[in-house]
Amino acid sequence: MIKHIIWKKKSLRVLDQRFLPRRTAYVDCRTAEAVARAIKDMVLRGAPLIGCSAAYGMALAARQGSRAALAKAARLLVQSRPTAVNLAHAVDAMLRASEGVPPGRLAVALARAAEAYFRADLSANRQMGRLGARLLRKGSRVITHCNAGALATSGIGTALGVIREAFRQGRIAHVYADETRPYLQGSRLTLWELMEEGIPCTLITDNMAAHLMKVSRIDAVIVGSDRIAANGDVCNKIGTYGLAISARHHGVPFYAVAPVSTIDPDMADGSRIPIEERSVREVVEIAGIPIAPKGAAARHFAFDVTPASLVTAIVTERGVAKPPFKPGIRKLLA
Ligand code: MRU
Repeated sequence: MIKHIIWKKKSLRVLDQRFLPRRTAYVDCRTAEAVARAIKDMVLRGAPLIGCSAAYGMALAARQGSRAALAKAARLLVQSRPTAVNLAHAVDAMLRASEGVPPGRLAVALARAAEAYFRADLSANRQMGRLGARLLRKGSRVITHCNAGALATSGIGTALGVIREAFRQGRIAHVYADETRPYLQGSRLTLWELMEEGIPCTLITDNMAAHLMKVSRIDAVIVGSDRIAANGDVCNKIGTYGLAISARHHGVPFYAVAPVSTIDPDMADGSRIPIEERSVREVVEIAGIPIAPKGAAARHFAFDVTPASLVTAIVTERGVAKPPFKPGIRKLLA
């Protein structure tokens, strides 16, 4: 699997996902500010991965040997993207790791803590893969949305981690990947990952999913998440909500796969989750080519919230929650 995030002690090297699958290029971030910029500009993306890179960003800030530098980096990193709660989770973990550490040892302590955070995400991926695969019967045909794979995490992925493990066990016959307008994470990244691994897959545009469920056997929809509320509402890439509605209409189970770091116990439900709005250029242009009349009004919501009532199960590394989600999620967090 391609190396997409490399800790080099004085810098963090990240694969520039904006150019995939056309070419492989890397960006070297030497400061927390540079990491925050890379997250904001989507050089790297995906909730768990931006959490891990924020942890390394804090480790870079710790090289200045002052708590003020850490506090400043923490603010910057948390603000770099608003929706995924993993950013705040990672930054909090790093601040906790800095408690009681003398300034001269901050750099070493935070580098260690960031590596531990990365490794914990990796092992969470594997565990989710094992638990999620059990939900699928042999030869399943599934739909996934956006990219919740290796490129979005430290390891094998959340939704794609389940798909990888299920494929290994003979439980996946075919994966349909939504292209994921407007940023095309599905076509650019998910198809690339699946094809690299030889997992049978087909690209569909987002508006084909409901039709596919109607005319063809689909056994499950499997997606990742950027923030899960305490009641089981699932925030994920724009288009997930529509996919969940279609799944319910066609009697197809809808599974969300995410580490517990994606659960935000402070959000009673999904209504207050901040939804990132990105530049409308990403809607009215594709690769710099206009696809709408000059001056056309547009919106670019980057995420949506699927109500818990449409979710069949939430797979985490600590177990699988099923409705009613509130007590199940409370137990996972305990
Ligand atoms: O805007 P992105 O590409 O960062 O959005 C990513 C997603 O929505 C993923 O589905 C989500 O982060 C889960 S990734 C394991």
